[in-house]
Amino acid sequence: MRKTLCMIFLCGFAAWSLCACGETSGNTPEKVQVGVTYYNQTDTFLRELIDCYKNDLESRKTEDLEVTVMVREAAGSEKTQNEQVEELIDAGCNVLCVNLVDRADPSEIIDMARERDIPLIFFNREPVAEDMMQWDKTYYVGAVARQSGELQGEMAAEVIKEGKVDKNGDGKIQYVILEGEADHQDAIIRTESVVNTLKENGIALEKLSYQIANWNRAQAQNRMQQMIRQFHDEIELVLANNDDMAAGAIDAYDELNYTEESRPVFFGVDGTSVGLQAVRDGDFAGTVYNDKEGQASAMAELSVALGTGEGLEDIAFENDRYIYLPYLKVTGDNVEEFMDRQ
Ligand code: GAL
Ligand code: CA
Repeated sequence: MRKTLCMIFLCGFAAWSLCACGETSGNTPEKVQVGVTYYNQTDTFLRELIDCYKNDLESRKTEDLEVTVMVREAAGSEKTQNEQVEELIDAGCNVLCVNLVDRADPSEIIDMARERDIPLIFFNREPVAEDMMQWDKTYYVGAVARQSGELQGEMAAEVIKEGKVDKNGDGKIQYVILEGEADHQDAIIRTESVVNTLKENGIALEKLSYQIANWNRAQAQNRMQQMIRQFHDEIELVLANNDDMAAGAIDAYDELNYTEESRPVFFGVDGTSVGLQAVRDGDFAGTVYNDKEGQASAMAELSVALGTGEGLEDIAFENDRYIYLPYLKVTGDNVEEFMDRQ
């Protein structure tokens, strides 16, 4: 008898607790689990971009939406990155964000994602159009490379026209360029478009040297030292494809104890915290803002839309699956505005 009563009680309790659970789970939260891998943690801009992305995702969490993110860095190895994608898929990620080590070789990653039907957002390192056509669940978030070169060129033309750059007064600007990675869309196109823009603005140029420094401050310092040894005071303008390399160029002049007056004029791209500070201090004449907050927010919105299957129709794509954020000019006049965003 006691046993039966006990059973009845237990069953009753079980039934009640099931109902109770049913009530609260009326809206089970949706789960977005994002896996991110990026090419190298030594890259300043990407570290800052990924911090923004994590913060943005965090702010999208609600009672009805669980969001988690796992971030891996590939230390410049394509093989490592492919393994990371596999690991992130096995861990249950339902959206992938990939900053390719080799932007020309995404096939293995696309195959893995397609096999498990996990949407793929490439960012910052743009795959070529043919690869983006391999599968219709691939997206790209980035910025228009050509615009960054144009804006850098326009800012430089303005400073040159004020007469502050042509130190030897020969009517031409002796310049050097510090370039990012050899195959990177942003390096190739920035270099090309900054030079074209200067020419279109009627600036006579004399190229002294182009040096590749892979976005890296220490490498840029080293290359700049070599160029200073070769050209001494002849260099009037340093155009760097990013802020870290412009900062590395200044490191080289610092090390050689060049005075303010005998240094060239420096321009960067990105508006990283180091870059903005350099503009504020007057070390850079300007930089071009690579809108990490805008890119991070576009990536986060897209991640949630793809992970939940809702809201994709509200996103404005170009060519169906691309999102490009505009670049912006940063000079001493407006740098505070950008510092406030950080
Ligand atoms: C560029 C950025 C560089 C570097 C590179 C990495 O857009 O300007 O500083 O981060 O991306 O892909
Ligand atoms: Ca000159």
